[in-house]
Amino acid sequence: MLEFPVWNVRAAGGGWVIGVIAIFHVFVAQFAIGSGLYLAITETLAVRRNDQPVLAFLRSYSNFIMLLTTVFGALSGVGIWFAIGNVNPTGVSALIHNFMFFWAIEWVVFLVEIAIAFFYYYSWGKVSQRFHLQLAWLYYGIAFLSLVVINGILTFMLTPGDWIHTRNIWDAFFNPSYVPSVIVRTAITCSLAGLFSIVVCARIKEEGLRVRMLHYSAKWLMPSFFLLPVFLYWYFTTLPPAVATLVQNGIDNIGAGNLSVLTRLLLLIMLLSVTIYVVSLLGPFFNPRSFSFGFGLAILALGLVVTGATESVREMLRKPYVIYDYLYVNGALKTVAADSSRYGILRQNKWIPERSITDENRLVVGEQIFRVQCLSCHTPSGYRSMTDLAQGWDREFIYNRIASLQATNLMPPFMGEDDERRALAEYIGDVVGAPPSSLTAANQ
Ligand code: HEC
Repeated sequence: MLEFPVWNVRAAGGGWVIGVIAIFHVFVAQFAIGSGLYLAITETLAVRRNDQPVLAFLRSYSNFIMLLTTVFGALSGVGIWFAIGNVNPTGVSALIHNFMFFWAIEWVVFLVEIAIAFFYYYSWGKVSQRFHLQLAWLYYGIAFLSLVVINGILTFMLTPGDWIHTRNIWDAFFNPSYVPSVIVRTAITCSLAGLFSIVVCARIKEEGLRVRMLHYSAKWLMPSFFLLPVFLYWYFTTLPPAVATLVQNGIDNIGAGNLSVLTRLLLLIMLLSVTIYVVSLLGPFFNPRSFSFGFGLAILALGLVVTGATESVREMLRKPYVIYDYLYVNGALKTVAADSSRYGILRQNKWIPERSITDENRLVVGEQIFRVQCLSCHTPSGYRSMTDLAQGWDREFIYNRIASLQATNLMPPFMGEDDERRALAEYIGDVVGAPPSSLTAANQ
């Protein structure tokens, strides 16, 4: 534990740095995959009917897809590595050590995917129609492979399954939620292909083609409208019982009017998803003639919000772990956290220079202890802050509360010794403006 220094992102907290980059990345990356299928199927149909206007449209659309996925997709992908590596180095290290070859495959796959995307776009009209179609399907095959690989790693974090006992990499990769998650994500990639295509098609100048393509693109949303509820349910049945209970409570609370953050997010996801489907039916599907570009952008924005909310729920369900039942968000292994003989922050942490606590350094050390044990989920006075959560508490109460954090099931246990707990309580007491204790009073 505590192998790495902690990045202090001040008021927002590190989670937001990952969150903001990840949401845009996931949105575009899933579109990149879905658009591969959209191009392949649409080009196949157009070639079969010798539909020149559609082929010309696909050519310019594939330019947009190539630029968006290679520039934005690739940059935000690097951004994610930067963010997770700095915010949660222990978690990333665990994932890299476990999935070394899967990451290697993922990167090769991604490189090939980009190369084919370029080849596909620049070879329009320069190679035989048949070969160009093969390129389209090859692009989709490779893009889908990238989903198949990354999905094993993402689902592992929430449902490591038998790996916890066996440490077998195949147990880790083909974990309990692997299959339903691949299907759910595949359905979502088709919806995103539909959503982006609706926006792009809304700008086609020639009315006949615009109407035709809007109607056609709206169909891409329909499979997930019917499939997602079923496969999401299957996905939820594969979650660990404690997590499933959280979701169940979150949904039950919608009726009870008890709006926890999880409940609000679930409600938001359901309402917005239904809105997207209904608007896409009423707009581009049934009334493509009067459908505008602005409307298209609006439903695309809703799609982004749903993506963000779904990713947040996935993250929330995993708390307090980065890897469920194995590694806590603050970098402590569950087995270490369960063994109080291995506690002692000053003794173990390389990044805190102080080796003992004195009256002079108590607050400084308290702040450092907060960094290594709490900052991964809290800030002193910004997002999810001590000033909000421990408002009005006195130092003795804080000191006692720290000993029972784990009882919430949202936090790892505090892994320090008594004087470290005292120092942390003094620091938090200062942050929330609690009256001085006998310790600090004696010091002043
Ligand atoms: C894995 C993330 C995580 C870590 C690490 C963590 N907490 Fe929390 N903590 C939470 C969550 C989630 C809540 C519930 C927040 C809410 O209700 O908004 C919470 C609530 C609290 C509360 C107020 C609510 C209560 O039940 O009393 C305090 C005080 C608190 N944490 C202190 C700490 C301290 C001190 C540390 C470091 C020793 C810490 N937490 C580490 C996630 C974490």
